[in-house]
Amino acid sequence: MAEREKRYRAAITATEHFLPERVVTNADLEKLVDTSDEWIRTRTGISERRFLAEDEPTSKMAIAVAEGLLQRRGLTGDDIDLIIVATITPDMVFPATACLVQNAIGASRAWAYDLSAACSGFVFAIATGAQFIESGAHRRVMVIGADKMSTVLDFEDRATCVLFGDGAGGVILERSEDGESGLIDFELYSDGSNVECLNIKGGGSLHPPSHETVDGRLHYIRQEGSVVFKFAVVKMAEVSVSLIERNGLTGADLKLFVPHQANRRIIDAAAQRMDLAPEKVMINIDHCANTTAATIPIALSEAVNEGRLQAGDLLLMTGVGGGLTWGSALFRWGN
Ligand code: ACO
Repeated sequence: MAEREKRYRAAITATEHFLPERVVTNADLEKLVDTSDEWIRTRTGISERRFLAEDEPTSKMAIAVAEGLLQRRGLTGDDIDLIIVATITPDMVFPATACLVQNAIGASRAWAYDLSAACSGFVFAIATGAQFIESGAHRRVMVIGADKMSTVLDFEDRATCVLFGDGAGGVILERSEDGESGLIDFELYSDGSNVECLNIKGGGSLHPPSHETVDGRLHYIRQEGSVVFKFAVVKMAEVSVSLIERNGLTGADLKLFVPHQANRRIIDAAAQRMDLAPEKVMINIDHCANTTAATIPIALSEAVNEGRLQAGDLLLMTGVGGGLTWGSALFRWGN
């Protein structure tokens, strides 16, 4: 087992998720773009997604998750040392959405920042947050993934707008009490050589907001779907297999695989490479679609609510997304 230097293990002690009320079905999208329920379901596995109200920001969902986490764990904001929010749809360019969460839950002792790694954001954030627990610097870290993708969808781009939804999920990380449960190992990667295949170009310092950027629809997500698809199929399987193998494990040892939910066919290909039985793969893309940084914590929270993890079980989370970025984190579940 690849052992890293650490004083403590970082265990997940609470999970929570938030999905907006408004359900948008494939039939609803048929009225907006030239698509069909049949095309979307067979190509992606998506039946419906949730959209947040137009006048509500990403922080609304992140705050709901943060409040739920505190309630589930019986804590108050003052018990939290650090809040990391993974998002590519923050409320504002700055301050960080994490600061808005910090204020809303009264986490007056906590420092807070956002992390931008698109669909890998939650895996990057949980591995980062765990370092502060493992080193002994902090006792409780809140890690949230939240995205309001409906604000960056171009409803003239049918190949992309049908893929995404809004949502948020998160966890609390604490020192493992038994010393066994918690983060075992992780692998994280970035490759900045293919920025063109997946991006939102407008609104940053390269293309500051202007009439031209709005007219050019530069504030919407753009992708070369088949390039991203091929990359995701290869990397999701590769990093997942690499992480379990370097820890002396096989798919048979895992209890639950919680992958980023971008496309059912990407998930199935990765599960096949790991030889995972279908009941070991958490899939909720059918009702959530791709919520970017939120897919993994939402799926994890739903799995926990369904009683799919028991003490001692091995859990693997894998994300792939814009950057390009990808990574896996392996946990042993606690009590
Ligand atoms: N409805 C109906 N037809 C459509 C739609 C739609 N919504 N979108 C595209 N089509 C058409 C295309 O125009 C094309 O028609 P043509 O053959 O007449 O030219 C046909 O369907 C096939 O298009 P492809 O792009 O080859 O379809 P593919 O099977 O590759 O599926 C998809 C497209 C779903 C976008 C796929 O490439 C994909 O999932 N890519 C990954 C993208 C992704 O998940 N990005 C999210 C961010 S990154 C991440 O999360 C990993």
